[in-house]
Amino acid sequence: MELSKIKEVTILNSPALVEYILETSSYPNEHEQLKEIRDATVEKYKHLSIMNASVDETQFLSILLKLMNAKNTLEIGVFTGYSLLATALALPEDGKEAYEVGRPSIKKAGVEHKIDFVEGPAMPFLNDLLAKGKEGCFDFAFVDADKDNYINYHEPLLKLVKVGGVIAYDNTLWFGSVALDEDDEKFNNPIMGHIKQNGYDAIKKLNTFLANDPRIESTLLSIGDGVTLCRRKY
Ligand SMILES: C[S@@+](CC[C@H](N)C(=O)[O-])C[C@H]1O[C@@H](n2cnc3c(N)ncnc32)[C@H](O)[C@@H]1O
Repeated sequence: MELSKIKEVTILNSPALVEYILETSSYPNEHEQLKEIRDATVEKYKHLSIMNASVDETQFLSILLKLMNAKNTLEIGVFTGYSLLATALALPEDGKEAYEVGRPSIKKAGVEHKIDFVEGPAMPFLNDLLAKGKEGCFDFAFVDADKDNYINYHEPLLKLVKVGGVIAYDNTLWFGSVALDEDDEKFNNPIMGHIKQNGYDAIKKLNTFLANDPRIESTLLSIGDGVTLCRRKY
């Protein structure tokens, strides 16, 4: 099995089913440059490559973007550009995406013109967009950055996406930790301990908040590491 294929993050608790989904559906449909980014990320960042959004989740979001006829999207949290390129590929020719960092594969894929790079912390950038009158200008936002700030990004994003637009929050199952009590013995494992120290409280708080936010219709999907779709109602 290729190196890039063993690093998929998925909440599905069956390695055989994960492999079946990836081999039967995800990998055969993966764009050449997306595979290139995924391989290059594993090569360079090794285990940190799990930060790339999963292939099946990204393909789901691509189909969603096309169903929505999305043209203007935001991406908060760019690593090596995997989900960024997937989004740019899903947008029509006159679509645009705002973001922070990009990579050469995006150029090679011929979709660079759909992307506006903005490097820096997301919060001032979102406030800046609002100050520039961009309220209601975006069809879709994908959030995959610092988990502690997701809840803070929610307020500006809810203004920036149009009514009927969608905000997608990645990693809302946080490696399955959200289902565990704080004192669960699984947190004695160093990796799970790290997960608990970094993001566990924030994601749990976010999930409860989103489920009770009357301004949105939301659903937490068990794909990848969990993704919550929030549709702005008004
Ligand atoms: C999980 S990675 C994103 C992966 C990306 N979705 C992909 O599929 O390649 C999270 C990224 O968020 C960035 N990040 C962390 N805190 C941030 C902040 N406050 N503002 C903007 N980006 C941030 C990190 O630098 C990191 O590259």
